[in-house]
Amino acid sequence: MEGFASPHLFSGSTLDAYTSGVWHASALLADRVKTVRQPYSGASVTELQEQVDAVDLDRPLGDTGAALHEVARLYLDNAIWFHEPTYVAHLNCPVAIPALSAEVLISAVNSSVDTWDQSATGTLIERRLIDWTAGRIGFGPGADGIFTSGGTQSNLQAMLLAREEALAVVSEPREVAIPRLRIFATTESHFSVGKSAGILGLAADAVVAVATDGDGRMDPGALAAAIDGVRRDGGIPMAVVATAGTTDLGRIDPVKAIGPICAEHGIWFHVDAAYGCGLLVSTRRRHLLEGIEQADSVTVDYHKSFYQPVSSSAIVVRRGETMRRIAVHADYLNPRTATVPNQVDKSLQTTRRFDALKLWMTLRTIGSEQIGDMFDTVVDRAHETWEHLLTDPDFEVLTEPTLSTLLFRFRPEGLSVEACDELMPRLRQELFRDGQAIVAGTTVGGHYWLKFTLLNPNTTMGNLKDVLDLIRGIAHRLTSEPTAAVMA
Ligand SMILES: Cc1ncc(COP(=O)(O)O)c(C=O)c1O
Repeated sequence: MEGFASPHLFSGSTLDAYTSGVWHASALLADRVKTVRQPYSGASVTELQEQVDAVDLDRPLGDTGAALHEVARLYLDNAIWFHEPTYVAHLNCPVAIPALSAEVLISAVNSSVDTWDQSATGTLIERRLIDWTAGRIGFGPGADGIFTSGGTQSNLQAMLLAREEALAVVSEPREVAIPRLRIFATTESHFSVGKSAGILGLAADAVVAVATDGDGRMDPGALAAAIDGVRRDGGIPMAVVATAGTTDLGRIDPVKAIGPICAEHGIWFHVDAAYGCGLLVSTRRRHLLEGIEQADSVTVDYHKSFYQPVSSSAIVVRRGETMRRIAVHADYLNPRTATVPNQVDKSLQTTRRFDALKLWMTLRTIGSEQIGDMFDTVVDRAHETWEHLLTDPDFEVLTEPTLSTLLFRFRPEGLSVEACDELMPRLRQELFRDGQAIVAGTTVGGHYWLKFTLLNPNTTMGNLKDVLDLIRGIAHRLTSEPTAAVMA
């Protein structure tokens, strides 16, 4: 009896359909991107909701070309384009082209880097990249790590490893010790730290806020005092989380000074370098990460400052053996007796994309120095923008940037702080609705600030001045509306 060969599944006998499908998708994308002039169309939620709801998912179009055109209308025509130079909102980057070639291979081959028998060389490539990253951090040969879905997952895994290390040396049962575990971080640390504490079953007050130096960086003296305080109160210090590139201010905690404190107290030292990891390949600013080699674990988001498509992140640990504590074995997958490398032993996921190939292709095509240069360029640009804003009387700028974020607001003479706080979120919303530029917003010290996050080295000072002019124009319009009454 002859077998059934589906014409819809990728195989050696469907290559015409495959190449045509991929070619059509890339041609359609190129066609759309050619005409893109701004980061967003400005479509409202209601408009897009109606369009998506109108699609009958039980009536297939039966043709890739037709489905692609529908998707172009629904998705591409209203996508948020991170490559547009006036997209300066969140930590999203334009992506390296070699990584996009890798995406084509990753999806079609569909390797899963959980076990050797589902990935083979994929596992080895991932391991080489972890070793390479560990080398850049300054870890020795005992280092290890794993690719993850993002900084949130990397931080969660770091906290899991820290929890297990802490529990391994306490005498009381786990259920007695867990509520006493404490994590030390500043309020500037990423929200995934607190989220991880919750997921790991820690107490509601498990994250101890360590005071900063007034500029958003962890104060090492305050950290030492906080650790002593927790011990005195019967708590168990579990981890210190330093951030190398805080989400809002881009600040780098004094990693070099924090390391010895963690070592002295025997506390797991995690560095969240989700944003600042680009410094690992910088030729001009690598020194900003001095001391990172003392960490027990480091979060590295290649999909932020290494110009990789989402998802691409890793947790890298100094002592590889610490990952063994979380290994769980299954006879059908990764039995204890396995003689081949099974990455699932070290991962929170089972089936896992071979995202590492994107970074591999990027390093093998353009090299790490180019990535470092791109990151250095955006940091330079943030400093230039800061200097420019200092000379513009219509704007107030919070502080000098460390990396590539900048907090500022429109506040000409005569506009009160209260009016400004009320105006800024409305202004940001209007800007998004217009679509010509996208900026972020955040609250610092109870006040609302607009935020530039620069990751696109193609964003020029001219582009940024245009965005500031757009903001100025919208602000003038909003403040002159009769109902606004925002001027003091
Ligand atoms: C400092 C920091 N850590 C972690 C994360 C989380 O990364 P992801 O969005 O990849 O989960 C972010 C995201 O912006 C971040 O800024």
